[in-house]
Amino acid sequence: MQILRSIRELRQQLSSIDALRRGVGFVPTMGALHAGHGRLMETSVRETDSTVVSIFVNPSQFNDPGDFARYPRPFDTDAAFCESLGASIVFAPSEQEMYPEPQQTFVDVARVTERLEGAFRPGHFRGVATVVMKLFQIVQPDRAYFGEKDAQQLAVIRRMVADLNLPIEIVGVATVRDPDGLALSSRNQRLTPAQRALAPLLYQALQLAASRIAQGSRDPQSIEQEALSVLAHPEIRVEYLEIVDPAFMQPVDRIEGPVRIAVAAFLGSTRLIDNVLAG
Ligand code: PAJ
Repeated sequence: MQILRSIRELRQQLSSIDALRRGVGFVPTMGALHAGHGRLMETSVRETDSTVVSIFVNPSQFNDPGDFARYPRPFDTDAAFCESLGASIVFAPSEQEMYPEPQQTFVDVARVTERLEGAFRPGHFRGVATVVMKLFQIVQPDRAYFGEKDAQQLAVIRRMVADLNLPIEIVGVATVRDPDGLALSSRNQRLTPAQRALAPLLYQALQLAASRIAQGSRDPQSIEQEALSVLAHPEIRVEYLEIVDPAFMQPVDRIEGPVRIAVAAFLGSTRLIDNVLAG
């Protein structure tokens, strides 16, 4: 496995890779890798000839500078993890390499970014779509792997790729969870033991909502209210719990087909998100 930090070296290396058969797979990450990222890499290694993993903590998608500063950066452990899973290249550019001059061109994906994360994190998806577009241009992968853990991000990237005719297949990978249901996230490390004990309630609330839908409930509002009651705890501050359509992430009046149930909540100062598909 190679660790490359410049776009020039990466392009040279990619042009010499014989990846004509199953192509180049790409797994964009911000590092602090865990088994969720691992699942994306394993899928790419299985489905393509060469897997490129990027590790770049992208400043433009953080709305809280403190959150950006605190973001863990265990580079050596991350690189060893990528190597152990069979990645061919880790691309770990500096901020200067990615943004040598202040960026003037942005990718703004409308509609699908309006609700949920888009409503609570202004500018977040512009930062994500713009950096992913840059990374796609740099790596030029055949397939790119994203987690359903960030279902709205996945929907935004699918929309961008369709709208801008990018010749890349986007592959969604199921959320990896701890045995008690908590979705793996680098932010979980910040939870106190008491908060960690409460964190599985997010998934329990989503599962309750999904089971109501499976039982035939069709009214999103009553299901949302019931799911919210699972999260009624003084240490939990819910930002949203919403039932939306999976393509545009817009609220539905009645549940008539597949829906995403998405939640975001603070435990102390740590913000967690999760979602499930239902219906
Ligand atoms: P990051 O949070 O590092 O996540 C990288 C990828 O791993 C994303 O596609 C995310 O959905 C996926 N992932 C995270 N936790 C997961 C879990 N428990 N199960 C399955 N997949 C999981 O998402 C980003 O970075 C950034 O926004 C990025 C796309 C790299 C752009 O900067």
